[in-house]
Amino acid sequence: MWHGRFRHDTAKIVQEFTQSLDIDWRMYEADIQGSTAHVSMLGKTGILDHEEAAKIEAGLQAVLQEIREGKFTPSEALEDVHMNIEARLTEIEPLGAKLHTARSRNDQVATTTRLYLRTRLQALKDDIRELLRVIVSNAERHINVIIPGYTHMQQAQPISLGHYWLSWFEAFSRDRARLDFALDALDECPLGAGALAGSTLPVDRMMTSELLGFSRPTRNSLDTVANRDYMADFHYFASMFMLHVSRLCTDLITWNTQEFAFIVLPDEFCTGSSMMPQKKNPDVLELSRGKTGQVVGNMLDLLMNLKGLPMTYNRDLQEDKRGLWASLDTVESVMKIIAALLEHVDVDEEAALRGLTKGYPLATDIAEYLVMKGVPFREAHAQVGRLVGWCVENGLAFSELTFEQWKEHIPEADPAMMEILTPRESVRRRDTYGGTGFAQVLRQIEEAKSRL
Ligand code: ARG
Repeated sequence: MWHGRFRHDTAKIVQEFTQSLDIDWRMYEADIQGSTAHVSMLGKTGILDHEEAAKIEAGLQAVLQEIREGKFTPSEALEDVHMNIEARLTEIEPLGAKLHTARSRNDQVATTTRLYLRTRLQALKDDIRELLRVIVSNAERHINVIIPGYTHMQQAQPISLGHYWLSWFEAFSRDRARLDFALDALDECPLGAGALAGSTLPVDRMMTSELLGFSRPTRNSLDTVANRDYMADFHYFASMFMLHVSRLCTDLITWNTQEFAFIVLPDEFCTGSSMMPQKKNPDVLELSRGKTGQVVGNMLDLLMNLKGLPMTYNRDLQEDKRGLWASLDTVESVMKIIAALLEHVDVDEEAALRGLTKGYPLATDIAEYLVMKGVPFREAHAQVGRLVGWCVENGLAFSELTFEQWKEHIPEADPAMMEILTPRESVRRRDTYGGTGFAQVLRQIEEAKSRL
């Protein structure tokens, strides 16, 4: 493509080192879409005449057809997807030599990548919506299941499992907003920025932008070929999403242990052991958690690449896609499999409730009950704390205490207090906005559905 200036061919070893075909070939469809819009603009503005433009467009369609039918094998010697397509076009249609008029690979690469990324991100929007849908339906399914809520991995207060699922609805909804932001960030058309400074030819950037479904052309040609922020925005979305998945997985892996045994995972989502006949391992959850580091690493890879780059295009930028594809593929597969798994998680309600009898998770309920009777909270806290200490020493659960024993430690105890001392009452009475009370969870479910 640049033989004019050179007296010697690029060395084979350099061709191999500098090619990006192995990474960018997957964008062939988007590249042809971008070229088609570009050439149609060249025809409409009179930079090329109509027939020329029409012939080049037809040639591009023919190349696309060949690729789809597996009849065209690109060559590394032509460096990348862009040059391979242009070269094949020109073989089929000699007018292809006019395609690259008023265009550089710098604005071309940026356009192709944005188009490809846009398609993938739009698909992810459907996937994350499906994940959110499953989470809401689990919340409905499990609203009446009571589990211990933990802080510091210590039993804290009883909660509705529905409430727990909805906590992930919030986290993944924020991820969805980050995904929208990334889609917004890429929504400007780079075509016409040229290598860095625009063109002496009268290109119509509004037209190409519109043809390709972007909201507007990019505003500054230098920034256009230097900018990879929209990729960083995707990486941040991807990293936060994976961090959320990773934490969710840790909960489910814990609840799936024999010690907790709150949940039952579907056989289809587990694997066995080659040696231990009894094993049923939560591999999908472990692998999803295990992939998180790669996705965060891919974000750091891009950020480090950009760190020292001068304005504008630098070849370093060719390294921007390897991690991008890896994260796109990982996020897509994790999103799909976690949604499928969650849909089939079952609960052992008794095991979850049994867990609640040991850790005095109703202690706050008693302290708050005393507050309503006028006892200062600090005093109530101390009384109940002393009672818990005494129970621990004597190996007793709250449920095993007689009313007289309650009275001994808590002078304000009364028969009505005994009525509130069940996990179900404890959950029901936390009826504050956003709290775990059943009425609150029902309201959250309705709201979540409307946000879907
Ligand atoms: N293969 C390169 C890439 O994907 C093309 C960029 C060409 N630009 C340049 N100035 N060499 O980024």
